Amino acid sequence: MIDIRNNIVVITGASRGIGAEIARAFAKENCKLVLCGRDETLLNQAAESCALPDGDIITIRADIRKAEGIKRIVDTACNQFGRVDIFVNNAGVGYRRSIVEVAEAEYDSTFDTNLKAVFLSFKELIPRMKKQGGGQIINISSMAAQKSDPGIAVYAASKAALNKLSESVAGEVRGDNIKICVVAPGYTATDMSNASSAKESGRLRLSPAEVADAVVYLARQNENAWVSMVEMRPLIEKK
Ligand SMILES: NC(=O)c1ccc[n+]([C@@H]2O[C@H](COP(=O)([O-])OP(=O)(O)OC[C@H]3O[C@@H](n4cnc5c(N)ncnc54)[C@H](OP(=O)(O)O)[C@@H]3O)[C@@H](O)[C@H]2O)c1
Repeated sequence: MIDIRNNIVVITGASRGIGAEIARAFAKENCKLVLCGRDETLLNQAAESCALPDGDIITIRADIRKAEGIKRIVDTACNQFGRVDIFVNNAGVGYRRSIVEVAEAEYDSTFDTNLKAVFLSFKELIPRMKKQGGGQIINISSMAAQKSDPGIAVYAASKAALNKLSESVAGEVRGDNIKICVVAPGYTATDMSNASSAKESGRLRLSPAEVADAVVYLARQNENAWVSMVEMRPLIEKK
C-alpha cells in the first residue's frame, strides 16, 4: 500500500452522506482536502469534522452540472495546493418514480450530475494529471448499474453509463500513469436511500464509512496495481 500523506484530494458531494465520510477518511490519512458541494453550512460542518489544520482544507460551493463549476473546483484546488492527486467524483442524485412520472428536468439533472459532471472532470483533470506525471480519479457508481429495483430506471441508466465512460477513458489514460477506478456500493444509509424507501422496506444498507474505507483502500493501492472496479454489498444486517 502506498503512503498518501499530503496528497491533494478533491471530493465532490462532500457536504453530507458518503462524500463527507470520504473526506473524514482521507483526513485520517493526513491528506490535504478540497470539499465541494452547494450547501455552505453543511460543507463547513463537514470540513470542521475533518479536524485538519486550516491551511490543509478548503471548501468550494459549486454546481458540478456546469462546466464552469467543475473548472472552478479544479482551478481553485490547483491554485491553493499546486496539483490534484486524487479526485473523487462522488456527488450524485436519483429520483424514485415510475418512468412515466419522471419529469424531463429530473432526467436531465440525473444525467448531468451523475455522468456529465464526470465527463467535465475528465476534460479538466486529464491534461493536468498528464503534466504532473499521474493521478487517480475515483468515481462513485452504484450496484443499481448491474441490477436495478423498479422506480430507479433513469438513475440506474446514468450509473451504467458512468461505468462504461470510466472503463473506456481508463484505457485511454492508463499509459499516462492515471488510474480511473469505480466504486459501486449497494444501498447505503444516507439521505439518498432514506428518500428511496430502502430504509422502510428493510433493505440491508452499508454505512457511509464502509464505502469511504473502500475508496481510501483503492487510493492506497501500489503504484502499478490498478483495481478498476469495486462492487460492495452489506454482508449481514447489523443489530
Ligand atoms: N445512498 C445510497 O444508497 C447509494 C448507493 C450507491 C451509490 N450511491 C452513490 O453515492 C454517491 C453519494 O450519495 P449519497 O448517498 O451520499 O447522497 P446524498 O446524501 O444525497 O448526498 C449527495 C451529495 O451530492 C451533492 N450534490 C448533488 N447534486 C450536486 C450538484 N449539482 N452540484 C454539487 N454537488 C451536488 C450534495 O451536495 P449539496 O446538496 O450540498 O449540493 C451532497 O453532498 C452518489 O453518487 C450516489 O449515487 C449512493
